[in-house]
Amino acid sequence: MKKILFVTSEVHPLIKTGGLADVSGSLPKALAELGQDVRLILPNYQAIKTDKDLRFLCSLRVDNREVNLLETQMPDSQVIVWLVDFPEFYNRPGNPYLNELGEPWPDNADRFALFCRIVVEVAMDRAGLDWQPDIVHCNDWQSGLVPAFLSLETTKPASVFTIHNMAYQGLFPAESIQGLNLPGQLWNPEGLEFHNMLSFIKGGLIYADHITTVSPTYALEIQTPTFGYGLEGLLEHRKDYLSGIINGIDTDLWNPETDPLITQHYSAASLPKKQYNKSELQRRFSLQVNDHIPLFGLIGRLVEQKGIDLIIDCLPDLMSMPLQLVLLGAGDKIFEQRLQNLAHIYPDKLAVTLGYDESLAHLIEAGSDVFLMPSRFEPCGLNQMYSQRYGTLPIVRKTGGLADTVVDALPETIANKTATGFVFNEASSSSLLETVKRAMILYADQKSWVKIQTNAMHKDFSWRHSAEQYLMLYRSL
Ligand code: ADP
Ligand code: GLC
Repeated sequence: MKKILFVTSEVHPLIKTGGLADVSGSLPKALAELGQDVRLILPNYQAIKTDKDLRFLCSLRVDNREVNLLETQMPDSQVIVWLVDFPEFYNRPGNPYLNELGEPWPDNADRFALFCRIVVEVAMDRAGLDWQPDIVHCNDWQSGLVPAFLSLETTKPASVFTIHNMAYQGLFPAESIQGLNLPGQLWNPEGLEFHNMLSFIKGGLIYADHITTVSPTYALEIQTPTFGYGLEGLLEHRKDYLSGIINGIDTDLWNPETDPLITQHYSAASLPKKQYNKSELQRRFSLQVNDHIPLFGLIGRLVEQKGIDLIIDCLPDLMSMPLQLVLLGAGDKIFEQRLQNLAHIYPDKLAVTLGYDESLAHLIEAGSDVFLMPSRFEPCGLNQMYSQRYGTLPIVRKTGGLADTVVDALPETIANKTATGFVFNEASSSSLLETVKRAMILYADQKSWVKIQTNAMHKDFSWRHSAEQYLMLYRSL
């Protein structure tokens, strides 16, 4: 049995802004089911939601600050959660990274450096918890300084750093290192310095014993300039210590047969019942209630990564086709504004909900016929997997985890029963539009459509296989 300290800045259902939270909620649970001793550690944000008991564990003094450690449990498993409690940094409105206006907290470098320091104290068993992990598994830049600080220790646990998104690197002005009390030997271009900035992610990429990312294709892509954002050379240099392990999904939370957030349960064997979810969506958004009109869904952060601009650019063309589109998302104000304007122009075909809404997300997965995910890049992506499980065929661009999890509907893949969605190559509105047309043609042939839905719903996206791969990696370190 391995003792694993899983370090993350968000975990569903306590606090979530994106897929990292889903992974942090479900991978530790899967590892625990494989008999491992996993503990989660994250900052004690104001927005954390839990109805489990919160217990004071201990106080630690780090960098002249008095920090408390609290303990709670994940709601649906035995996994223990440690919360790093320092109200001055974490007890604020807004989300883990941004204030209520959507701007990064100005002291993010301090906030996450302190978090990393505390993680190291726990990892080195200096917090008086009488528990030392064999593996410290860090995720994304917020935990990047952990492997860097650990590199200065002797007899330390092994470290794994998982990249969920190279586009977010935790870059701060060089001046910020003064307040952080960074050991001098980490501050050089072979260390945490990146073009005279402090780079949190480099801490993970340079000092972790092993780097993973969340799909095999993305592991290759980030070694190229387009996806590496200046760190492709470093990643190529470390390629023997870099691997891609595809994310799984929480098949209890995302299960059309039991999902409490949808109108009507269904399975591959009772697919016609799916339409009740569709009519509920149509009713709720005052779209024509008609099962014959293909309903397209989209859920996601409204940022360039997700190719939302590709959709906006071809929206007038899309709206001239016999289809409906329900969109849920939040993000860049410019995209939010443009979508809202378009929703006013096409009220009977387009429904836009701005904001974050967990239960609507489930209903969209259940009620749509097609799910749009034309990402410019996508380290893994979860919604295309949720969609397949719900018999909602995804249209995706061939990148990262989308390329690894969706099989394009072509004559041969339809014949050999592997087709599960629609894949296109070029990040352009015209390619997207062509693929929508392709999906519409197939939708008109309901017999074939149902076959592809059935292929998609039978695919195994559970965590088991990937959790075993992580376990093999831990054992090899
Ligand atoms: P990313 O982590 O890049 O945002 P993923 O596909 O990995 O993309 O995960 C996104 C997760 O966040 C999914 O669980 C998705 O359903 C959820 N999500 C994103 N935006 C919203 C929203 N506006 N409302 C509800 N859930 C959302
Ligand atoms: C990131 C990526 C997304 C991935 C998620 C979980 O936010 O953008 O593709 O699915 O992390 O690993």
